[in-house]
Amino acid sequence: MSNKRSEIQRIRDFKSAHWVSSEMANKFIERSNPERFPIMNYYKLVDLELSSHFLPGDHVLDLGCGQGQTSIALADHGCSVVGCDISEALLQELRRTKGDRKIEVRAGDAYNIPADAGEFDGVVARMFMTHFVDWYTILAEMARVCKSNGIIAFPFSSKENRVMAEQHQKFDCPELYYSTDTLESYFAADPEKKPTRFSAEASHDEMTGVCNAIGLELVDIKPFNFFYFNFLIGYSIGPEKLVEYRSKLSEFLKNEEIRAFIFWFEQMVVPHFPRFMTSSNFVICRKL
Ligand SMILES: C[S@@+](CC[C@H](N)C(=O)[O-])C[C@H]1O[C@@H](n2cnc3c(N)ncnc32)[C@H](O)[C@@H]1O
Repeated sequence: MSNKRSEIQRIRDFKSAHWVSSEMANKFIERSNPERFPIMNYYKLVDLELSSHFLPGDHVLDLGCGQGQTSIALADHGCSVVGCDISEALLQELRRTKGDRKIEVRAGDAYNIPADAGEFDGVVARMFMTHFVDWYTILAEMARVCKSNGIIAFPFSSKENRVMAEQHQKFDCPELYYSTDTLESYFAADPEKKPTRFSAEASHDEMTGVCNAIGLELVDIKPFNFFYFNFLIGYSIGPEKLVEYRSKLSEFLKNEEIRAFIFWFEQMVVPHFPRFMTSSNFVICRKL
């Protein structure tokens, strides 16, 4: 096995074990609370964007739904939703909180989605696809369960943002994630390092190539999340200042007016930026 393949397997094994542990599930539920972690308010914007691609009545799969915040947002938008995840503890939380919303909870693995071909009008995945080194395999599964003309939408990391930041960097910023292109050097520094910070990424051309190969049309890659997760910021101010910056941003996000401004900017301005300006961009594809 080449080094790269063994690192890929290591990340896959680590991530699987990580997500099925109930300790992890509890931690994740606690950290998803926007009252306690104001940065989580950002994810409400993700839900708005993902929901905007569907009409009331659409049957939508929320893959890797976790405790189902996006499933709930989609159901409140009028969709009938299937929330699918491998973590029984997180699904249990969704069962507890979903009330009488139209949400079916299905335990299952994204590599083999428990659904029929063409079952859904659309598929979304929030904070999910970037965990997988072989995310394109999962995207192919999402395409399989989606109807022709259905929409598949998910946030994904922009390679253009990392590359631009590296070209102009003033500091190295190990606080930020590392990706498929950089994982060998990440492990070279410390082979025992936990791969918690792995995040898959793609350039526009790479995403187009993957989509073409699996019967999807890439409709758009829309810039998002200028303020919080941005390599340009991390590589410009360095790891120490980045920690300070993020904690200050979290404080600002508690203030309703500042939050309103940041979210207005994210919705009005950021989508029109060049893609290298942001890291967590929305990928929107259509099943052919
Ligand atoms: C960062 S969480 C995101 C959860 C949710 N989408 C959200 O935004 O709150 C990643 C989720 O992926 C799930 N997951 C990890 N590997 C999976 C797999 N192979 N199949 C299905 N779900 C998986 C985890 O259990 C976890 O709920």
